[in-house]
Amino acid sequence: MADLSTNYLGMNLKSPLIVGSCGLTTSLENVKLMEKNGAGAIVLKSVFEEEILLSLHKKARDASKDKLLYYEYSETYDYLDIHTRNEELENYLQFIREIKKEVLMPVIASINCVTDTEWTDFAMKIQEAGADALELNLFFNPTGFKIMDVEKKSVQIVKKILKTVSIPVSVKLSSNYTNLGHTIQEISEKGVQGIVLFNRFFSVDFDLDKLSVISSDIYSSPGDFTKPLRWIALITDKIGCNIAASGGVHSGKTALKQILAGADAVQVVSILYKNGIDHLSVLLNEMDKWIEKKGFNSVSQIKGMMSNKNVKNPEVFERMQFMRYYGKLFD
Ligand SMILES: Cc1cc2nc3c(=O)[nH]c(=O)nc-3n(C[C@H](O)[C@H](O)[C@H](O)COP(=O)(O)O)c2cc1C
Repeated sequence: MADLSTNYLGMNLKSPLIVGSCGLTTSLENVKLMEKNGAGAIVLKSVFEEEILLSLHKKARDASKDKLLYYEYSETYDYLDIHTRNEELENYLQFIREIKKEVLMPVIASINCVTDTEWTDFAMKIQEAGADALELNLFFNPTGFKIMDVEKKSVQIVKKILKTVSIPVSVKLSSNYTNLGHTIQEISEKGVQGIVLFNRFFSVDFDLDKLSVISSDIYSSPGDFTKPLRWIALITDKIGCNIAASGGVHSGKTALKQILAGADAVQVVSILYKNGIDHLSVLLNEMDKWIEKKGFNSVSQIKGMMSNKNVKNPEVFERMQFMRYYGKLFD
């Protein structure tokens, strides 16, 4: 059996497969099953700043309706604010404490951030609860029509969190940055220990019968792995921190491709929703077989073998258009 262990965020993982942030990591039973089936680590469902605010507003509205609380008085509102937040967030912290008693693999907490003010205290509490690391999900999706310096805001959030906690911090980015390579490099230089490429946003679709707006497929497709693959291959030699691939990894072979591009770890979500948590062992088995068949003996041996620096035609990673004679590039 090949050595599948890897190093990620300064931690030794027994396998490079990490269960990414999602609803599957909200149950202790699931988390235990993930460890049993070979997960190297898990990322907890994100604490959504937006979700907490929505719940706060709902409770405030309900309270004002039955006149038990006088929502219009600002002091009551302040109490409600603190109370609601504490309840939701305490559950999250309690869950970290609970799973840390039950599993040995690293537990990575996750915060959805859009500001550099809201969450910094909570990051400290996550550390105190025993999380091994923190993944910041920078959730910018600039759909407005004004110039918005998302790159600058992202760096501000990262700097603030790094001042707050001492556990390793990774940053999960979208690909919606004007100058993605520069942004990744700048964030990595601020002292984060890992970059996760990429997060996946909710996307819309239309129901033609009802003429209504609906959610498109929430799960990724197997072809989605190519964008992270390209970017990991491009930047792996240009940044000094770990990289985790995320998006479209539906097979052991795709996970191997991300490692060959330079990823230290690979996050999986959709495939586990589709095939069950025990499918992790199928993916790992596929990876193990390929590594042995190729005459290698470890994940670390193949890491980055096909990065920008190591392939014959690195220009293919930068190419955006097909050329009439593109076949020549791939000979
Ligand atoms: C049901 C569901 C819930 C998710 N919740 C979160 C979340 O809370 N925080 C986060 O950073 N990503 C979340 N994601 C995104 C995943 O972590 C992952 O980045 C994305 O699904 C791409 O990986 P995949 O192709 O393996 O699914 C969620 C994805 C799904 C399908």
